[in-house]
Amino acid sequence: MLEFPAGFLWGAATAAHQIEGNNINSNWWVHEHTPGTSIVEPSGDAADSYHRYREDMRILADLGLNSYRFSVEWARIEPERGYVSRASVDHYRRMVDTCLEFGLNPVVTLMHFTVPRWFERDGFWRAPDAADLFARYTELALPIVSSGVDYVCTINEPNIAAMLAGGEDAANLVAFGLPNPDLQVADALLASHRRSREVLSAVSGLKSGWTVATQAFAPTTLPDGSIEPGASDALVNYGHPRDDWYLENIAGDDFVGVQAYTRTFIGPKGPVPVSPDVETTLTGWEFFPPAAELGIRAAWELSDRVPVMVTENGIATADDSRRIAYTRGALEGIHSAIADGIDVLGYQHWSALDNYEWASGFAPTFGLIAWDRETFARTPKPSAEWYGAVARANGL
Ligand code: NOJ
Repeated sequence: MLEFPAGFLWGAATAAHQIEGNNINSNWWVHEHTPGTSIVEPSGDAADSYHRYREDMRILADLGLNSYRFSVEWARIEPERGYVSRASVDHYRRMVDTCLEFGLNPVVTLMHFTVPRWFERDGFWRAPDAADLFARYTELALPIVSSGVDYVCTINEPNIAAMLAGGEDAANLVAFGLPNPDLQVADALLASHRRSREVLSAVSGLKSGWTVATQAFAPTTLPDGSIEPGASDALVNYGHPRDDWYLENIAGDDFVGVQAYTRTFIGPKGPVPVSPDVETTLTGWEFFPPAAELGIRAAWELSDRVPVMVTENGIATADDSRRIAYTRGALEGIHSAIADGIDVLGYQHWSALDNYEWASGFAPTFGLIAWDRETFARTPKPSAEWYGAVARANGL
């Protein structure tokens, strides 16, 4: 058996906008209802997890997991600039308490792509006071994480967020290959992260970090197996001309979240489409279980040994047996990184539930748990049972 370290976190991850439903004060809700974007459908009720979180957490705990990563929605806490919804703060505090009640170590994300619509209206991450506003929001969210929370992720995938902001449309959520990150936004996200960490440092014992999309990149090869001239594997943390920027700048953080799903080949002219003879998933990405291990190794090295948590990893598939195969492969790779001395705190499978995959809508099913679009009734998939057994055994 491949045994994992004592205290390893076995969790599943979600993001508020993707499961809660009716996140009407967020910028994404606006984009979803703007004609002419690339978004295929609006999020609507999503999985109604805003009301059903207790049931969701109970399922995860019953399966055998000991952790749950979820995000807090800024647009609910501060729906209008300067107006604070105490009821929303209470709601998320109850979520933390429910995690604790069920023995789930809560990993709380403060910003998972969505921001209040007023924040976007007032200049978004390009506003001169963006970092002040994010620091103030962190202060508002402090009661949610002030006790019982070990890990807070400030900002989810800043490298993707900066790339999206650089696109022609902030809601143009194309996961790969957008070559034009907005570097002003990248700087603002880093400043916001640092300010947020400062605020969070008031809570003793709390560890904070951000999560980075660390998909694997590989150079294209010629038929004889040699690397194609001009091809590259340099885009380890794509989204910035200095490819290690998102990890180099966090030396000293308490941990870093690694989010890895697939790999992309980079030819002389940039990312190349996935070859027709490899297995792909419902997002069109290559089925590539080593992505998590490669992400961990890159993060550990580039951040100068900041402890790593896999805060997302999984596949969108209608064939649940492939989810099991993928996850098993990913966990084997993660185990080998741990065996080499890398400090890996835990694994958060993406995702706990089938959910709203941004511009792609509800079709790409990443969940361990399915739910009925009309009744919202939850059904754990065989992969959920399998993963729960791994968690209980602390190994595979
Ligand atoms: C990264 C994002 O954080 C998450 O929101 C998204 O659903 C998954 N990857 C899958 O694309």
